[in-house]
Amino acid sequence: MSNVPFFESEKIADRTYKIKNAFTGGFDTLCYLAEGDDYALLIDTMYGFGDLNSYVKTLTDKPVKVVNTHGHWDHVGGNFHFDSCYIPVRDISTFQGYIGFPKEQLFELAKNSAKDEYKDLLVLDENFAGTHPMKVYPVSDGDVFDLGGRKLEVVDCGGHTPGHIVLIDDMTRICFAGDVCNGNTLLEFDDCLPVSVYLENLKRLKTYAPRFDMMYGGHEIFDSSIIDEGIETAAKVIAGTDDNVKETGMTGKDICYAYKKNDDGSNEGGHRFNMSYDPERVIGDDVRGIVIK
Ligand SMILES: [Fe+2]
Repeated sequence: MSNVPFFESEKIADRTYKIKNAFTGGFDTLCYLAEGDDYALLIDTMYGFGDLNSYVKTLTDKPVKVVNTHGHWDHVGGNFHFDSCYIPVRDISTFQGYIGFPKEQLFELAKNSAKDEYKDLLVLDENFAGTHPMKVYPVSDGDVFDLGGRKLEVVDCGGHTPGHIVLIDDMTRICFAGDVCNGNTLLEFDDCLPVSVYLENLKRLKTYAPRFDMMYGGHEIFDSSIIDEGIETAAKVIAGTDDNVKETGMTGKDICYAYKKNDDGSNEGGHRFNMSYDPERVIGDDVRGIVIK
């Protein structure tokens, strides 16, 4: 039995918790639990280190539904401790692509991510669920989770992934934001949308900003003014007036960053927002629809 503190949580608002893995070091990945009178909504599930289903039952006695802001592994891995989830319609195939991922590999990832004092205490037990088919319900713009006395509205903001959503909670004035807009917004992957489309989506998200103060993201937390920085930066990239820092991206491709970074990883010039992008895909269309072969 793994004898490590898998999770820790913090109450960030009335009936609202931020949850993260407690045994890991370095870069945080976050998820959130919002409770209503009828059910609680778990927003993202992190990598899948630890039995998140059992953990959230210590925070709420309501039934729990799972929704993902987007289909990336570090936000959906814990879905496999549940038997159903809601996923942005355009990200479902990404999620389904993880089925078959061996739990031994997940365990190795957990060990590599663990703080030194916990590395040898991790055991490949039921805290690491094998991936399995489950009921997947699509969500998209305008859908509403009515938790009972509390409603969270889905707003599309594709860019980082084609289907990326945020959830706006009028009760707490929080926008649960996933990876939509942060200090290291990745638009470098082949399935990211062009920067020009991302910019239009950020401008649209900005029209919702009067309804929230804070953006609780999948890795970082900002006030809503980070959207303005995102809009300004994406516009600079399109105009060719960003720093245009050439780098090798996470998948080995030649990519660019909008702003130079300091040695400590922060962005030069005091910028809170930064983004990577594919220089070949700055201007483009949002091509809806996939080719099924
Ligand atoms: Fe992501």
